[in-house]
Amino acid sequence: MNNLRNSLEEKNGEVCMAGRELTSLAAKYGTPLYLYDEAWIAGRVEELHKRIPLNNLKFFYAMKANNNPHLLNIIRKGGMGIDAVSEGEVHLALSCGFTPDRIIYTANHITDGEMDRVAETGVTMNIGSLSRLEKFGKAHPRSSVCLRFNPDVVAGEFKEIQTGGKLTKFGILMEEAPRVKEITDRYGLTVVGLHKHTGSGIADTALFLQSMDNLLSVAGSGLFPDLRFIDCGGGFKVPYQEEEIPVDYDAFGKALAERFENFRKVYGRDLSLYFEPGKFVTAEGGIFIVRVNTLKKNRDRLIAGTDSGFPHLIRPLLYGAYHSIINLSHPEGQPHIYDIAGNICESGDLFARDREVAEIREGDYLALLNSGAYCYAMGSEYNMRPLPAEVLLEKDGNDRLIRKRRTPAELAQLIREETLWN
Ligand code: LLP
Repeated sequence: MNNLRNSLEEKNGEVCMAGRELTSLAAKYGTPLYLYDEAWIAGRVEELHKRIPLNNLKFFYAMKANNNPHLLNIIRKGGMGIDAVSEGEVHLALSCGFTPDRIIYTANHITDGEMDRVAETGVTMNIGSLSRLEKFGKAHPRSSVCLRFNPDVVAGEFKEIQTGGKLTKFGILMEEAPRVKEITDRYGLTVVGLHKHTGSGIADTALFLQSMDNLLSVAGSGLFPDLRFIDCGGGFKVPYQEEEIPVDYDAFGKALAERFENFRKVYGRDLSLYFEPGKFVTAEGGIFIVRVNTLKKNRDRLIAGTDSGFPHLIRPLLYGAYHSIINLSHPEGQPHIYDIAGNICESGDLFARDREVAEIREGDYLALLNSGAYCYAMGSEYNMRPLPAEVLLEKDGNDRLIRKRRTPAELAQLIREETLWN
């Protein structure tokens, strides 16, 4: 067993999650299958609150990472709010019991219609461009607003998910703060929060702290005397590679708290500190199980063909992301090097290339670890293959189906209906 957490353990030669045998669950629900561990996710939410020794601390789950209402419910019960990035996410969050004061809406390049409809719900609007701020001020004068700044720090595990610096589309430039002030004064807007998100999967915590300092320097500029909170976004990294050294979250939490305390004293008004973690909360709490149906050799390459593909877990193809893979059916088998391929008609459809996995036989179940964030949520039905089912391993020992898998015939019927085909 590798050293990634995922609450996996081996009992009598069977790989278990939350104490339950994974091959039995795979046989019961069929594959491809996402499995989530309730206790683990609830534990992560609790842990967040403990790692940063500060009062007035609030966490907002980045719902884009996983929007299954059953998981959102665990997260809500743990005291977190929601970081929403679209009108759809706001709707879902409200209907799942998150009150408007527990939702922050940070969408970019929105229409006026979306802005107005979301503003009416009473959630906090986080605005990241002067153009949108002007439109917001005109349409909703004398309201409260949060402003997203570009922290001018480049960090994050892939270039596509770095959100600071020159090459990003996000946020207002820090040097534009005086222009912000002109607009907010013109429309009587109260700036209640300042926000930044630096990137996802930040291994170098010094960069995160630098980015926070940059935002605090804007907050302390004297231009924004009515702040109630500072929102430092998400980006807390979790290990994906077996040998990866995890971030020291105790030290990091202390450094964050210390900085913020110092700033609070200088600012002279009580302020809350917000974060918007996604991966940290659910990535390691989920796994994805696929089944090998074809073994073949392409000269010196061993290919294990599975019953899923990149539409169900796109991170390897999209970012070159690494997901650890375990052969659940044969964990102690002699390791070989495989390409783990999907069933989609594209050569790039691989979960892993040249990956050492315990000997794979046709019919074996494979688990891809760290699949609780940005996996199902980024899924599609490309090639008309239905999305996987999702199952929650509940704290009390039950396993509960929390999302049905459509049959291919149902998917075909849905397409006929949606396209208004007779
Ligand atoms: N807040 C904002 C404004 C964000 O844009 C994001 C992520 C987060 C919070 C949460 O970041 P996290 O704590 O999860 O790192 N699909 C990519 C990740 C995209 C992240 C986009 N924004 C992946 O699979 O790695």
